[in-house]
Amino acid sequence: MEKKYMAEPYKIKMVEPIAVTTRAQREEAIKRAGYNTFLLDSDDVYIDLLTDSGTNAMSDNQWAGMMLGDEAYAGSKNFKNLKKAVQDLFGFKHVIPTHQGRGAENILSQVMIKQGDFVPGNMYFTTTRAHQELNGATFRDIIIDEAHDSTLELPFKGDVDLNKLQALIDEVGSERIPYICLAITVNLAGGQPVSMANMCAVYEMAQKHGIKVMMDATRCVENACFIKQREAGYGDKTIREILRETFSYADGCTMSGKKDGIVNIGGFLALNDDELYQKSTALVVVYEGMPSYGGLAGRDMEAMARGLYESVDYNYISHRLAQVRYLGEKLDAAGIPIVKPIGGHAIFLDARRFYPHIPQDHFPAQTLAAELYLKSGVRSMERGIVSAGRNKEGQHHYPKLELVRLTIPRRVYTYSHLEVVADSVIDLYQERETAKGLRFVYEAPVLRFFTARFEPLG
Ligand code: F0G
Repeated sequence: MEKKYMAEPYKIKMVEPIAVTTRAQREEAIKRAGYNTFLLDSDDVYIDLLTDSGTNAMSDNQWAGMMLGDEAYAGSKNFKNLKKAVQDLFGFKHVIPTHQGRGAENILSQVMIKQGDFVPGNMYFTTTRAHQELNGATFRDIIIDEAHDSTLELPFKGDVDLNKLQALIDEVGSERIPYICLAITVNLAGGQPVSMANMCAVYEMAQKHGIKVMMDATRCVENACFIKQREAGYGDKTIREILRETFSYADGCTMSGKKDGIVNIGGFLALNDDELYQKSTALVVVYEGMPSYGGLAGRDMEAMARGLYESVDYNYISHRLAQVRYLGEKLDAAGIPIVKPIGGHAIFLDARRFYPHIPQDHFPAQTLAAELYLKSGVRSMERGIVSAGRNKEGQHHYPKLELVRLTIPRRVYTYSHLEVVADSVIDLYQERETAKGLRFVYEAPVLRFFTARFEPLG
């Protein structure tokens, strides 16, 4: 019998009850939260799709590893295990643990960037770009143009446009480009992967000009799985083989273990260059801790070492992508506007096309996130005009993409949960004309999406 979908390659040993609320309770809760899903108490949330970051379910093997935490200040055996796992799976020589991904971004940006430099990248990520800018660099987006269009179906929509990279090198000179920041996959483009051919070509061009390539490896296992499934010549390779080849096209990487490391906290910086490593160890003691723990307990390093090995199991990772695809295909079949193709960690609803009657400055994506919570207790995240903030003149940035992200935590929810999500989005779409938009009642000057408060229009 042909399977309708890939069932979970794990079974449930421990459960966590979640809040089943009434419409009246949700109306109270979203009002208290100022119609901002970031301000909801998790106690009031039924299915939490705010993020896939640190929301993963660990395995029995990881929890067993937690009990073997060697909480020594220096030279913990769990550090040795983590280092061995990263060397084995990623192939880099040096490993520095950090409290999470942005801890590694901070150190990398400080050791590599000089005032006035340029850092090209395949679309920005908030914290990554913030660290580059704090150290005096200008970020340049070198992703292919197609990545900014939510309707175009391409297998590797995270790819770098080599002409844009060459143009930047010609414009500013390679000596002002300390490294290329290559994200695999690209979060804000919709979890879109980068092809092996593109990574190889970027690395070749970088080497020719004496520029380093530093990968944002946060969702590198999802990227590897897409390569196996979509790129010619990789169907028979293992995820481990694909990862090793991936990182052979890089000089180092930053990693948020809270995603593909399948843990709740942790990250690392990995490097080949001895001098860069020396400089980084001098900084890690200032910001994180000893180079052998970097802001993590021994038990956290053990959980991440074990999580990394679990992540390269094809049954695990192909099921993860299958779950995300299942939700996306259900919505697509019902005519719901989503970012295409379906990415690795989330489904992105296109709120512009969902609520075409709500102008962007009445916050269609914010409205949709609030409506979805009201409908069924599902929490999602606005990624549109509210997240984009204001310019120096105080005007809104008007981003092309006005999205709501439904992010799937790893190994946490079942297909039944995804059915609930799909059904409530479809119900909302059927009654879309009734949605009216929101207006600000409070707005912070920076990163306003975290704390903004709204009230309904009309
Ligand atoms: N890079 C990417 C691509 C990310 O998505 C994130 C975090 C980071 C770096 C930073 O890692 O959170 O461990 O410091 N993304 C989360 C999200 C917050 O919800 O997408 P961190």
